[in-house]
Amino acid sequence: MDISTDTRDPLGLAADAPLLAGWLDWTRRVHDGLLAPMTTPGHKQRQDLVGAVVAGDAPLYGALDTIKQADRLRADAEARAAALWGADWCRFSVAGSTHGNQALCLAAGRPGQEVIVTRTLHRSLLLGLVLAGLRPVWVRPDIDPATGLPSAVPVRAVREALAAHPDACAVILGEPSYVGTIGDVAGHAEAAQQAGVPLIVDAAWAAHFGFHPDLPPHPLAAGADAMVTSAHKALPAATQGALVLARTDRLDAARLDRAFEATHTTSPAGSIMASIDAARALLARDGERLCGRLLRGVAAARKRLREVPGLGVLDGPGVEPGKLVVLLAGTGAHGGLVEADLIAAGMAPEMADRDTIVPIVTIADDEERVAAFAEVLIKSVERHRGQPRPPAASASWTVEPRTVLAPREAFFAPDETVSAAAAIGRVSAELVAPYPPGIPVLAPGELITADAVTALREAAADGGRIAYAADPTLATFQVVAT
Ligand SMILES: Cc1ncc(COP(=O)(O)O)c(C=O)c1O
Repeated sequence: MDISTDTRDPLGLAADAPLLAGWLDWTRRVHDGLLAPMTTPGHKQRQDLVGAVVAGDAPLYGALDTIKQADRLRADAEARAAALWGADWCRFSVAGSTHGNQALCLAAGRPGQEVIVTRTLHRSLLLGLVLAGLRPVWVRPDIDPATGLPSAVPVRAVREALAAHPDACAVILGEPSYVGTIGDVAGHAEAAQQAGVPLIVDAAWAAHFGFHPDLPPHPLAAGADAMVTSAHKALPAATQGALVLARTDRLDAARLDRAFEATHTTSPAGSIMASIDAARALLARDGERLCGRLLRGVAAARKRLREVPGLGVLDGPGVEPGKLVVLLAGTGAHGGLVEADLIAAGMAPEMADRDTIVPIVTIADDEERVAAFAEVLIKSVERHRGQPRPPAASASWTVEPRTVLAPREAFFAPDETVSAAAAIGRVSAELVAPYPPGIPVLAPGELITADAVTALREAAADGGRIAYAADPTLATFQVVAT
C-alpha cells in the first residue's frame, strides 16, 4: 500500500523512516489476515490468548523485514540517525540508555584500567564499570548551596584527574544532570582529547539538545566522542528506545559494535526500533518547531510558578531551558504531599522529594498542558503551605564515597549480610540508590559510612523509594565478607 496514506502515521514520517515503514507494512498485512508467521513471537499476533497487551508487537527480525534482510533496514535507519547527529556510528537500543551506557563502558577500555567518571552517575554506568572491570576515578559536580542541587562537574576537576591518572582510558560524564544543569562539554572534550582519550557522555535526557537555537548543542556537536540518549525520555519514542552515537577517531567502530551486541537482546522489538526511527524522522523535520513549543511552555510555567510566594524554579545560564524543576522549600510544602495531589490529578511527576518536584516536559506537551500542570501544582502548594525551610541537599548529589575495592571486585566478592550498625566501616557489596534519580549513594566497593546510612534512612523516611537494596528497610546491608 501507499505508505504516505496510512492513517496510523498521521505525520507521514514513514517516507523518511525505513523501520517505521516496515512496521506499518507488516502490521497492516497481519491485520488483513495475510500472514501466518512461523517465527517468534509466540503470540503469533493473536489477541485472543493474552489479549490486547501484545497488539503492535513485531520483531525486528522476521517482521520489519525477513530475518535475513532486517539488518539492512536497521543499518539504513541507524545511518540516518548518525547523519542527523553528525556521528560516524549509531545503534538503536531497545534496552534504554542503561544498555547504551554499559555498551560504551565495554568499548572504552580493558579490565583494570582507570576511567575518569562523575560520581553523580546513573546506576547503569556504575554497573557498566562492573561489567567492563574499569576502575573509577571520581569527579564530582559543584553543589549550589542555594538549592542543594548539583551544577556541573568543573573542567578543572577533569583536567586534574587526567593529570593525576595519565593511564585513564576515557572520561565519562552525565550531561545534563538529572535536574537539567549543564556544564562545559566543549571544555571537557578538549581536556579529554588533549590527554588522548575519548569523552563519553550519558545524555539520557538530552535527545532534543541541538535541535533549537536556544537549546545547548548536543554532546557530539560540542566535541564529545560518544553519547547515549534515551529516545523514550525527551523524544516521543516507545519506552526503552535509546540511541548510542559515536565518532570513531578515538573509539573503534568494530569494538563499539561488539560491546553493543554483548548485552543487547538478539530479539529486538521492531515496534520500539521503529518508534526510535520515527522519533528521529520527526526531530529531523519538525524538531525546531516542536522544541520551540517546549521552550515556550517551560518558560511560561517558570514565570507563573515564580509569581507564587516562596515557590522557586531552576533557571539561568547553567540550566537547560526545556527543563522544569520546581523548588518547594520556600513554601514549606512537602514534595511528597504535592506529588500525591499531582498523582490524584493524573499528572504524576517523574521525581518528588521533600524540596523538589521534577515533571518531565517534552516536545509532546503543548503549552496548554504545561500551563494546566502549573496551576494544579500551585493549588497543591497552597494546600500544603507551611513554614519555609532551607533546602536540604539530597545524598544523591552530595555523596563523597571512599572507594576501597574496584566495583567489579566488590560485586563478585563473597558477601555477608550484617545489621546497619555493624555495616558502618565495612565495604559495600551492593548498590543502593534513591530512585529517581537513581544515583547510587552506596556502590559496590565503597566504604559504608554513618552519613550514608543516615542519608538513605532520611530519604526513605521522607517517602522516597530506595532501589536495589537487598533489604529496602535498610535494617541490614550486604557487605564484602572479611
Ligand atoms: C542520567 C541517566 N542515565 C541513564 C538512565 C537510564 O535510562 P533508561 O531508563 O533509558 O535505561 C537514566 C534513567 O533515568 C538516567 O537518568
